Amino acid sequence: MSRARITLDRDFTIGEVPRRLFGSFVEHMGRCVYTGIYEPGHPEADENGFRQDVLKLVKELGATVIRYPGGNFVSGYNWEDGVGPRENRPRRLDGAWHTLETNAFGLHEFVDWSRQAGTEIMEAINLGTRGVDAAREIVEYANHPGGTYLSDLRAKNGHKDPFDIKLWCLGNEMDGPWQIGHKTAEEYGRLAQEAAKAMRFVDPDIELVACGSSSSAMPTFGAWEQTVLTHAYEEVDYVSLHAYYQEHEGDVGSFLASAVDTDYFIESVIATADAVRAKGKHKKHVNLSFDEWNVWYQRGLDTEDQPSQVAKAGWREHPRVIEDKYNVTDAVVVGTLLNSLLRHGDRVKIANQAQLVNVIAPILSEENGPAWRQTIFHPFARMAELAKGQILRLSVDSDKYENTRFGDTDLVDVSATWNEETGRVALFVANRGLEEAADVEVALRGFDARRVLRAEVLEIPEGGNRFTVNSQGNPDQVGLKPLEGAKASGSELRATLPALSWAVIELDVVKN
Ligand code: AHR
Repeated sequence: MSRARITLDRDFTIGEVPRRLFGSFVEHMGRCVYTGIYEPGHPEADENGFRQDVLKLVKELGATVIRYPGGNFVSGYNWEDGVGPRENRPRRLDGAWHTLETNAFGLHEFVDWSRQAGTEIMEAINLGTRGVDAAREIVEYANHPGGTYLSDLRAKNGHKDPFDIKLWCLGNEMDGPWQIGHKTAEEYGRLAQEAAKAMRFVDPDIELVACGSSSSAMPTFGAWEQTVLTHAYEEVDYVSLHAYYQEHEGDVGSFLASAVDTDYFIESVIATADAVRAKGKHKKHVNLSFDEWNVWYQRGLDTEDQPSQVAKAGWREHPRVIEDKYNVTDAVVVGTLLNSLLRHGDRVKIANQAQLVNVIAPILSEENGPAWRQTIFHPFARMAELAKGQILRLSVDSDKYENTRFGDTDLVDVSATWNEETGRVALFVANRGLEEAADVEVALRGFDARRVLRAEVLEIPEGGNRFTVNSQGNPDQVGLKPLEGAKASGSELRATLPALSWAVIELDVVKN
């Protein structure tokens, strides 16, 4: 059995939980939109074609803000193609994912869907093939009340009232050579600055996200942020980060420690943004938007849904693309990535798991068939539900294990929140140990624990192994079940986490 001693203190908080941390992402990619959230004719679809079975799961997931419409897709997208009468909308080639885009679903549909889902919109604009003019025009179309050509066109197209979209991404992954219209940091920094100015002339209340690096391994990482922010610091509110992790054969230890990279990535971007702030004598802080993150098996697979194979199969409507099936190990890693985001909630104000349905997603759906939860659904849903109030700054003394990529790494990974209004402390704890259970002892300073309100664990199911997944035939094989034996009294909590597991413990506390 490994051991971890965690200390938390009522007075040591790092700030309010930013609710936008529990964001997600809908891209026109594969089957995320078509046969994911939108499938007219499906037995569960409403009159708009929105699948209610999927919507129910989206609500249960608790996503707060959803980035749309891409992703790589947006860098070749004309937003005008997706508005107006459907019969007039053009069919286009989407070069990013080698797909035929019908444009049956566009901005109005996404706004209507978001209202049903109860989620905020984070709209990305095309800074790949387009520029300042299209950037200001979409803001006018979406947010101007009326009396201009574009706002009246919105009304004519069915929405008299403005969409009032607050949050906008200035392009997507512009540092990546794979991106349509890829740019150098100089080129992008200037374009982002000018697009931001023009968008704010139309609506001064919007919040803007500049593209940062597509991963911490990009050769331009660090220098990119520095150059882009040197140009656009005053015009933007956030800089983005993207990161995907996967298990490389024979190295599960490094995979389980992926959040060490997330911590490093976040802390490096904070340092870079703050250095630009100091050098430029700026007053405000630019915060972080981790607007794509997840586990994604990008290498080592040669299945039909891999982008290279999709391209070989020719132009099709909504082919299957990267429909990863997530196992127990992936769910534990996702739990630790969420922990990293929450621990940095003083500066990471937005985060979007990529993506929402079918494409590297917590929810899978079949055309004309059911929808179900992947393993990674569970840590996200519980954290979105329970991480409320203040983020607690923790002191963690955990046994360690060694892995190739990160060296010595804590076996137990944790984040915690305190909701003063409800008198609840929530702990989100992962045990990275593959063989050993972890004995976890938490010292609760400034609190008296009255009882454990909820203790749940995701672990290897009976008869399964760490590769066990949920499937259409067995959709609930991996889920949350009661964590037996978690005990809290006075200023102490004790629990034992099974090997390779993720757990949530919620306590009823009073201040002492
Ligand atoms: O989420 C899948 C893809 O990953 C997105 O389109 C792109 O932004 C990233 O490279």
